[in-house]
Amino acid sequence: MQFLTIGHRGVMGVEPENTLSSFVRAQQAGMDVIELDLHLSKDGALVVMHDADVDRTTDGHGAIAGLTLAELRALDAGGGQRVPLFEEVLDAVSAPLQAEIKDVAAARVLAEVMHRRALVERVEVLSFHDEALTHISSLVPGVRTGLVAEFYGPEVIDRALTAGAGAVVLDIRRLTLETVRRARTEKLAVIGWVVNTLDELRLAHALELDGVTTDFPEIRSTGRFMA
Ligand code: G3P
Ligand code: CA
Repeated sequence: MQFLTIGHRGVMGVEPENTLSSFVRAQQAGMDVIELDLHLSKDGALVVMHDADVDRTTDGHGAIAGLTLAELRALDAGGGQRVPLFEEVLDAVSAPLQAEIKDVAAARVLAEVMHRRALVERVEVLSFHDEALTHISSLVPGVRTGLVAEFYGPEVIDRALTAGAGAVVLDIRRLTLETVRRARTEKLAVIGWVVNTLDELRLAHALELDGVTTDFPEIRSTGRFMA
């Protein structure tokens, strides 16, 4: 199996996170997969942002769910860029994507796009929310899903199995050999995040992970010499 290097919100260490420039740069850097975050605007548009509000990453204020697409598009998401629609990212890059559902209400809209644009092969769906994974799986037969967790123990494997996920995407600072072995026993893929240093990358290889999520393009080339 190929060791995957996944660009986190594009390559957020060198470009404004979750912007088209970040996704294009991630692709140019040769990332195997590009990760992004999904929310719904007040009028139901599937937009790519991390936080539930716009305050940290734009020049605006307020909850994404309280703003229309037109209001979101008037904001500066970094370097004069607009908040991307998910479908703009699909068109801007050709790389495989990990689409993380932040707002569970986005699962229904994502399912519609996945059907209309035949994305089952290209897009893996992630979430911290177990119910978002079960929902998308019920709407999109054959979709690949991964359960994300920051605070967890080996029981995260049972949660992933119950949600029907094929992968666990786990904060590498809390990842143990026990958890990795339980995942292997259950034939789940294991991705570590966020891996930005050589020590973290060495740990990922020592644990024989399937891949890492990183903020920086350099991890891609460094990883080649460690495989
Ligand atoms: O890929 C998992 C990772 O994206 C989860 O962390 O906070 O960047 O969404 P966060
Ligand atoms: Ca994410």
